Amino acid sequence: MSVDGLKTETLSADAGGIARAASLLRDGALVSFPTETVYGLGADATNDRAVARIFEAKGRPRFNPLIIHLPTPEAVADFAILDGAAQDLAQAFWPGPLTLVLPMKPGGGLSKLVAAGLPTVAVRVPAHPLAQELLMATGRPIAAPSANPSGRISPSTAQHVLDGLSGRVEAVLDGGPCEVGLESTIVGFDPEPVLLRPGGLPTEAIEAALGGPIATRQINAGINAPGQLSSHYAPDAALRLNAETARPGERLLGFGHVEANLNLSPSGDLVEAAANLFRYLHQLDAEGDAPIAVSPIPDHGMGRAINDRLRRAAAPRD
Ligand code: TXA
Ligand code: MG
Repeated sequence: MSVDGLKTETLSADAGGIARAASLLRDGALVSFPTETVYGLGADATNDRAVARIFEAKGRPRFNPLIIHLPTPEAVADFAILDGAAQDLAQAFWPGPLTLVLPMKPGGGLSKLVAAGLPTVAVRVPAHPLAQELLMATGRPIAAPSANPSGRISPSTAQHVLDGLSGRVEAVLDGGPCEVGLESTIVGFDPEPVLLRPGGLPTEAIEAALGGPIATRQINAGINAPGQLSSHYAPDAALRLNAETARPGERLLGFGHVEANLNLSPSGDLVEAAANLFRYLHQLDAEGDAPIAVSPIPDHGMGRAINDRLRRAAAPRD
């Protein structure tokens, strides 16, 4: 059944908005909500039909696995096994922009679609107060990918969500712009910790907590899912990276002390740049299709995650 043509409600960040969002989620509706990283497209993770609707709304060609969101680290024990290094990381960084891929606990009641048949489940405890209140009020694990149509840039404002998914979701809870601005860092266990996606929690912080370097693996290696496509997070316009200056006809997305159409951080602050990245890509996308040149971004701290997203956005298109 097509869900196009719904009237998407915008809910405000107050007790009434949270109660409405929670009741919609419990009834199997789709509700987009803010986290400190990006807006999620939430559904009750125990409801097969609701989870299936996530894929329909995003236009995802395949069922790739989803992150479940929980209000507290204590709530994780019902759905996954958290021990060893995973527990250390949870203790150090939850709530926060970290997702852990953990062995799934049988009998937790998660829809099979959530983990797409894998024996593991990705779990996140977000720090955003509105997300926490919503998860608490809902009382269910909430499955949520980023709230963008498949292959598009992740949303860091409620307006971005509406631009991409209006008419395809029941509601958006508007919590203003996301503070971090790009997705969570994802760590799996092999059983040694492995970095699967650089993100809002800098790799250096994880290595400090583990007391040593962490191995890196391409996310979804071995999983046949759109997340592994190198072209992802893409605006319509072509992107040219590591550009010291714009060529004629190009627009410059700057970083540091450069003359630019938009500047991620004139002072060269990587945290500020991460927070602005998706918003500025959305803005340049909305303004036209002239190619976008992007200043070099230092490859440390949040810069690693920024460069990962930029490389995907610049990758050849299918
Ligand atoms: O910040 C974030 O992580 C946001 C907010 C909404 O929480 N969510 C997000 O979800 O970015 P999504 O679906 O766009 O990205 C999750 C990634 C996907 O590449 C998915 O394939 C991978 O995590 N993933 C999920 N479960 C997995 C599992 N069990 N094993 C390996 N990879 C998994
Ligand atoms: Mg995504």
